[in-house]
Amino acid sequence: MKIILLGPPGSGKGTQARFIIEKYGISGISTGDILRDEVKNKTELGLKAKEYMDAGKLVPDDLVIKMVEERLNKEGYVLDGFPRTLSQAKSLDKILDRINDRIDYVIYIDISEEEIIKRMSGRRICKDCGSVYHLLFNPPKVDGKCDLCEGELYQRDDDKEETIRKRLKVYEEDTKPLIKYYKDKGILRRVDGSKDIEEVKNTIEDIISNI
Ligand code: AP5
Repeated sequence: MKIILLGPPGSGKGTQARFIIEKYGISGISTGDILRDEVKNKTELGLKAKEYMDAGKLVPDDLVIKMVEERLNKEGYVLDGFPRTLSQAKSLDKILDRINDRIDYVIYIDISEEEIIKRMSGRRICKDCGSVYHLLFNPPKVDGKCDLCEGELYQRDDDKEETIRKRLKVYEEDTKPLIKYYKDKGILRRVDGSKDIEEVKNTIEDIISNI
């Protein structure tokens, strides 16, 4: 099973990717998580990526494509946050053609800008295991601590209002064209992302059950 989760920042891609990974036992490839790890570990890639991420810009295509290519496998995966430019989508097609593979579905999580701002400003992430919470919509059992590993929860540097607006602009310009790209290929499935987490999860499971 090979799935792409597409949608604006804060639409719930990371939240739903974790459910899919757990339920179907496939790997998750989140370019945002991989880049945040590289930044945390102060690697060469992390040092390059940080300035783009903090500014709400996209990290250059060549760096991201290489990172993803190394992680693709035949068994199955969910791609979260990649591709997000037409150039990344076309590169992915070329790589898959070369290894005689294909994506089953691109699940597009559709939500309004107003809802996005609410979601991102309340988001908190576990420093140790990366689990995602929301102060109102998905709060941890103990304030400031992860339910799974008791790690400390933090707010992402790029979840400040000014950077959120920049990220939304980048999404409109660079990533939104992918909706048409995958619709034309007949593999796009839209999900109403304004529903609660459980409902979105059930709709995605219905889509996946057709593979
Ligand atoms: P990345 O980490 O991919 O960020 P993003 O796409 O902007 O997405 P987010 O992680 O912000 O949101 P999400 O959709 O995963 O939502 P979540 O589940 O957390 O990328 C960060 C940066 O890295 C980019 O800006 C760029 O610089 C760089 N980068 C990454 N990939 C790249 C690429 N391919 N090319 C170039 N650069 C790249 O949910 C949000 C909140 O809402 C949470 O608090 C959650 O609990 C809550 N929530 C989720 N679902 C619901 C629901 N249904 N109802 C209520 N609350 C909900």
